[in-house]
Amino acid sequence: MKEHPIGIFDSGVGGLSVLKELINLIPNENYLYFGDTARVPYGEKTKEQLTSYVREILDWFKIQNVKAVVMACNSSSATVYENIKNDYNFPIFSLIEPTADFITYLNSEKIGVLATSATVNSRAYSTKINKASPSKTVYEVACPGLVEIIENNKTATSEAKKLVIKYVVPLLEKGVEKIILGCTHYPFLGHIIQDIANDKEILIDPAKHIATKVSESLLLLDILNDSEKGAVKFYASSNAQMFVEAGKIFYPALENAEELIISEIIKIAK
Ligand code: DGL
Repeated sequence: MKEHPIGIFDSGVGGLSVLKELINLIPNENYLYFGDTARVPYGEKTKEQLTSYVREILDWFKIQNVKAVVMACNSSSATVYENIKNDYNFPIFSLIEPTADFITYLNSEKIGVLATSATVNSRAYSTKINKASPSKTVYEVACPGLVEIIENNKTATSEAKKLVIKYVVPLLEKGVEKIILGCTHYPFLGHIIQDIANDKEILIDPAKHIATKVSESLLLLDILNDSEKGAVKFYASSNAQMFVEAGKIFYPALENAEELIISEIIKIAK
C-alpha cells in the first residue's frame, strides 16, 4: 500500500503548481498526474459536467490502485468534492478547506480571491472563510481567459499582463490585504500579480496548504512511502506535446507525458 501512487488531477497544467508543493514535502511518493486537456477549461463547465468528469478520472485512478487522490483543481474542489468525497475507498483531498482554515488564523480582514467562474459562482471560499470568521470580507473575482493564456504558453505576453491588471487592480482598490490564488493555474502568473501589487507577500497559494494537509493525513494513516525515491508519471487527455511545453514553464522537470484519451480512460475503468 505505501508504494501505491497518489493520483493528482486538473484540467491541464495548473495542477503542476500543487504537484510541485507535494514533491517538496513528500518527495518519496509515486505520483500519477492527469491533465484533462481535452476538456479544459473546467471553470466554464456546469457542476453536472464536472461531476461526471471527476468520476471518470477517479474511476480510472481506482484501477491504477492509488492510495489517495489530490484534486489539484479548485473548480472541482468547489463544486464536486462534497458530493463524492465518501464514494471511493481512498482518501480524496480538496483545495478549499485547508486554505480556508489557514485564513481563519490570519490577521487580515479583507481577502481577495481570484478564481474561475465555477469556483466564484459556488462561493466556496467565502462561505468556508465566513463560517469560521464572519468579520472577514471576501471578494471573489472570476477571471475568464487566464487559464487559456497559461495552457497556450502565453504567460510572457502583453495580453497576459493586461488581463491580470484588469482582474487585480479593482481588488487592490478595495484594499485587500491578501489575494488567494483560487485556481491552480494562477501561480504561473504569480510574479505579475506581485509586481502589480508591489507586494511580495500578498499571495496565498492553496497548493501549499493542500500539500501540508496531504502529508499530515498520510502520516496519520501510516501510508507514507518509506522507500528511497519516488517517480512521477504524466498523462494528458489531448495534445500531450502542448501540455509538456506549457507545463515546463512552471515545472521544468516535466519532460514527457502520455496521451490518454477520455474514451480510453472510461474503457479501462469499466
Ligand atoms: N486549475 C483549475 C482550477 O483550479 C481549473 C481551471 C480551468 O480549467 O478552468 O480551477
